[in-house]
Amino acid sequence: MSPHAVVTGAASGIGAAIADDLAAHGWRVTGVDLRADALTAVLDAVHARHGVPVQAVTGDLADAGFAAGLVDTAWAAAPVDGLVNAAGIYPAVPFEDLTAELWDRVQHVNVRAAVLTAQRLAHHARPAGRTPAVVNIASGAALRARPGAAHYSTSKAALVMATKATAVELGPYGIRVNAVSPGFVGVDSPVNPVTPGYAEAVGGSLLPGHAEASHIAPAVRFLLGSGAAWITGANLPVDGGGSAGTTALPQHWPAPTPWQLGTPEARS
Ligand SMILES: NC(=O)c1ccc[n+]([C@@H]2O[C@H](COP(=O)([O-])OP(=O)(O)OC[C@H]3O[C@@H](n4cnc5c(N)ncnc54)[C@H](O)[C@@H]3O)[C@@H](O)[C@H]2O)c1
Repeated sequence: MSPHAVVTGAASGIGAAIADDLAAHGWRVTGVDLRADALTAVLDAVHARHGVPVQAVTGDLADAGFAAGLVDTAWAAAPVDGLVNAAGIYPAVPFEDLTAELWDRVQHVNVRAAVLTAQRLAHHARPAGRTPAVVNIASGAALRARPGAAHYSTSKAALVMATKATAVELGPYGIRVNAVSPGFVGVDSPVNPVTPGYAEAVGGSLLPGHAEASHIAPAVRFLLGSGAAWITGANLPVDGGGSAGTTALPQHWPAPTPWQLGTPEARS
């Protein structure tokens, strides 16, 4: 029987690319999103391309009952082998304009929903003697703050720690929980629009070219699969090396000095 993945945020961007990649490798997919029409369109296309069973579950992940209940719905169709928490919101708001309501919504969608879905998955998997894997889509923003994103960076840092904490709780039962942290990825999303100037400013990488959502999906598939059987609690950057360093420093630094080089005149 095909393995079964639940992918939240599957109606566009990184989540849609993950759903397509998993289906291309034989997974049946339950896609979850706030936007019913966009989700149906993505899943219909996935089914047409790859022939695997697909199921759409529509609702708001800020609603705790929905976040847990979607796992019940998915499990009723078939036991769940992989859960990918890719839904997320990143509204850019100056710090002084940030409201308590927006802060809470970002934390609920980006962090709490991922914890509640993993918890519910464990409730189903343990009595059934199954060992599914979970991948949370975090962000480079978890480790590096930027203006207008205090709420977002905090949510992603919390998601990285929630990944470790959940891995600690569920590891003894063989349930693995990891994170993937993309750098900037251009997605055409009405939910999370980004201006070209903003994309240019946050999009640093070591490799030439630009990230696409399809670059993220294979890392997620690896972490869900048996090749990652001994990996849990990890946070894998998929960012073209952007978190490793920068190429942005202009090359007009001074020539090495005699003291740096250890040449004879250094001792005079
Ligand atoms: N694009 C990037 O540069 C980037 C970088 C790092 C991390 N991420 C993360 O990747 C994930 C996907 O983002 P994306 O860039 O593909 O954006 P996207 O807008 O294309 O996809 C996000 C999806 O989540 C859904 N969603 C939003 N709020 C929801 C809610 N309350 N309930 C249910 N579904 C909801 C949206 O409808 C949308 O389909 C997010 O967690 C984001 O934080 C994105």
